Amino acid sequence: ELAQEMQKLDQMFWIDQQKLKDITKQFKVELDQGLKKNNQNIPMNITWVLGQPHGDEKGSFLTVDLGGTNLRVCWITLPGSRGQPSIVQEKYQLSKEVKTGTANQLWDEVADRMQTFIRDQRLDEKATQPLPLGFTFSYPAMQDFIDHGVLQTWTKGWDVKGVEGEDVTIQLREAMEKRKLPVKLVALINDTTGAMIASAYHDPETIVGAIFGTGCNAAYMEDSDSIPKIAGRLPPACPVAINCEYGAFDNSHTVLPMTKYDHIIDKESPRPGEQAFEKMSAGLYLGEIFRLALIDLAKRNLIFHNQDISRLDKSYILDTGFLCAIEDDRSSGLQNTATSFEAHTGITLNTQERQLCRYLAELIAIRGARLCACGIAAICSKKNIEHGHVAADGSVANKHPKFKRRWADALAEILEWDEQRTEDPIVLTPAEDGSGIGAAVIVAMTLERARKGD
Ligand code: BG6
Ligand code: GLC
Repeated sequence: ELAQEMQKLDQMFWIDQQKLKDITKQFKVELDQGLKKNNQNIPMNITWVLGQPHGDEKGSFLTVDLGGTNLRVCWITLPGSRGQPSIVQEKYQLSKEVKTGTANQLWDEVADRMQTFIRDQRLDEKATQPLPLGFTFSYPAMQDFIDHGVLQTWTKGWDVKGVEGEDVTIQLREAMEKRKLPVKLVALINDTTGAMIASAYHDPETIVGAIFGTGCNAAYMEDSDSIPKIAGRLPPACPVAINCEYGAFDNSHTVLPMTKYDHIIDKESPRPGEQAFEKMSAGLYLGEIFRLALIDLAKRNLIFHNQDISRLDKSYILDTGFLCAIEDDRSSGLQNTATSFEAHTGITLNTQERQLCRYLAELIAIRGARLCACGIAAICSKKNIEHGHVAADGSVANKHPKFKRRWADALAEILEWDEQRTEDPIVLTPAEDGSGIGAAVIVAMTLERARKGD
C-alpha cells in the first residue's frame, strides 16, 4: 500500500520536460506583462541601478541587510581597480516578535543595531560627512528613485504591521534621526540586484543575480526601451536593473502544478494567494511541504502506526537544512535520518519509513530545483542570452548538496542544450556578497552619477 502511495507522490511532484517548457513560456508572458504595466502578477520592479559596475568603484560605505533570517551591518571599503573589498561586519538574529510586530519595533531594532555598530567601530569619530548607506531590503518595493521604496507586500512569512504601502526609507530615516545617527541613506537595494552587481564587479560574464534561499527571486539588466511602464523616464537604450520579484509568478494559478500540500501552505500563510511560485520552490517552504505530506500519510494510517505524532503536527518545525541532511545521509540503513527525525519529532522510523522520508525529500527538492530553472530560463530566452553566469546566493543554492546539478539538468531540458556538450553555456556561480559588497558598489555608482550630475 505504501509503495502505491509513493508512486502517487511521484506523480504529484514530478514535473516533466514538456511541463517545464509550458511553465517557462507562461513565465515569459508574465515577465513581459510586468514590464508593461503596474499591478501584474510579477511586479518587475525598476531599481534605478543603471548599468553594470566597471570595477573601479571606490570608497567606504555602510550597508544594512534586512533579509529574512539575520540583520547584518557592514562597513565596506572598495579599493577600486577590481581590488578585493575589505569588510567589517556584525550579524544579529531577528526574533519572531520583530518579524511579526509593528513598524516602530522593526525600525527601532534596525537603527539600534546600526548605532551600536557605528559606536563599536568608531565610525562617527572618523567621519567628516554623513556615512553613505546602502540598505538591502529583500522584499518587493516599488521605487520611483533609488533612495525610495514603497513596500508592496511582505513575503517570506513576515508580517510587520504598518509598513505595507509605506515608504520604508522614510521609516528607517525617522528611526535614524531619532538617534541622530550620522548616516545618509543613498540607495535601497534588493538582494538579487546586490548579488548581480557584486558579482559583475569582478565577473563581466554575470547575466543574472538570483537568490535561491528562504525566498526565490532574480534580477537582470533590461533595456529602458523595453519597459513601457516607465516610458520617457530614462534615456533611450539605457540598461537598468530589474528586480523581477518573480516569487509572485502564477499568482493567478494558470500553470503551476499545485499539490494539495501547496494549497494548504498557501491558505495558512499570512498572505494567501500571493507568492505562488515562491511557495513551491523556496527554502522556507520545502520542509513544510515535506511535513504536510507525512502528516497526511500518517492521518490516513499509512505510516507511524501507534506513534504520537503531535510534535510533527506543528507548522514549520522542519526546515530545509533538515531535508538536506536526509538527502546527504550515507549512513547504513539511513540511521542518521532516523536519529535526526526522532530528535525533531519524537517519532521512531522503521526501515520503510526511512526510505519514504528519503524519497519524499528528494521529490520535493527536485521539484523545487526544476521550478527554479524555469524562472532563469524565462529571463534568458526573453533576452536571447545564450551563455553567461547566473550569480546565485541563498541557503538552498549554497547548502543543498544536489541543487546545482538538478537546476542545471532542468535548464538543459528547457533550453534543449546539445546532449553531447562538454560544458553548460549558462552556469550557476556563487554570488559575491550582494547585500554587502553589492550594496556598497551600488552606493558608489549612485554617488558617482550624482557627482557627474547625471
Ligand atoms: C545571503 C545574502 O547570503 O543570502 C543576502 O547576503 C540574501 O543578501 C540571503 O538575502 C538569501 O539567503 P537566505 O537563505 O538567507 O534567504
Ligand atoms: C522574496 C522577496 C524578494 C527577495 C527574495 C529572496 O521573494 O520578496 O525581494 O529577493 O525573497 O530573498
